[in-house]
Amino acid sequence: MSKIKKIISRKNKTKIVSLTAYSKNVASILDNYCDIILVGDSLGSVLYNYKSTREVTLNTIIEHSKSVRMGIKKSLMIVDMPHNTYRNPKEALKNAKRIMKKTKCDGVKLEGGKKICETVETLVKNKIPVMGHLGLLPQSDKTFKFKGKNELERNNIIRDAQLLEKAGVFSIVLECVETSLAKLVTKSLNILTIGIGSSKYCDGQILVFDDLIGLNPINYRFVKKYANIRNYISKAVINYSKEVKKNKFPNKKNSY
Ligand code: KIV
Repeated sequence: MSKIKKIISRKNKTKIVSLTAYSKNVASILDNYCDIILVGDSLGSVLYNYKSTREVTLNTIIEHSKSVRMGIKKSLMIVDMPHNTYRNPKEALKNAKRIMKKTKCDGVKLEGGKKICETVETLVKNKIPVMGHLGLLPQSDKTFKFKGKNELERNNIIRDAQLLEKAGVFSIVLECVETSLAKLVTKSLNILTIGIGSSKYCDGQILVFDDLIGLNPINYRFVKKYANIRNYISKAVINYSKEVKKNKFPNKKNSY
């Protein structure tokens, strides 16, 4: 069974654990505990301080993905297609092929619904596994608010999820989707939903790793900080600084 079919077969059985990674060392730790590792274009704001993910280029995501690839042995590795790299099926195929070839990833992720279905079909026909992304869409939304507040938003998300499934995606990230809608969408699909800020009813969960460990100082409602790594780093650097100033580091053991 292919890696993709295997992960879909876990629907309604075991939850899918997923996180983002942007580099080898982090990926090599996450690989032990995750099913899917995403090289997300969130790296634009997390690492580069860009105002939006729209500024992330194909080359940047490819270079980070090459690093992440070196840290992964077993997890499914998915790479975000940056904004303006999949405006039509032809452009998407050319760029997705480049991502697959250069990074040896297992698939790509695209944001959007109805508009991108023809593109998804083209990629899938060319044996490129695709993960969809609905709800809050950082590449195109002007304001970042949760989705599913009114009938129109709800109906669009339900329709888009079904169209994406038909087009061949193996899973859909649901970002900031209201609880009952995320539950409904998850129930209505045979493929996986991976939630971020979209309740416990999704088939799996994803978080930005820097948020989970508390490296990112910003607080979001949908993030639970499982560690405060900034404190650990501060303590280590304070000790290092003290020892350097007192001429205690390096000692004999650290010298040649
Ligand atoms: O770019 C990203 O990291 C993402 C996740 C938040 C799902 O798309």
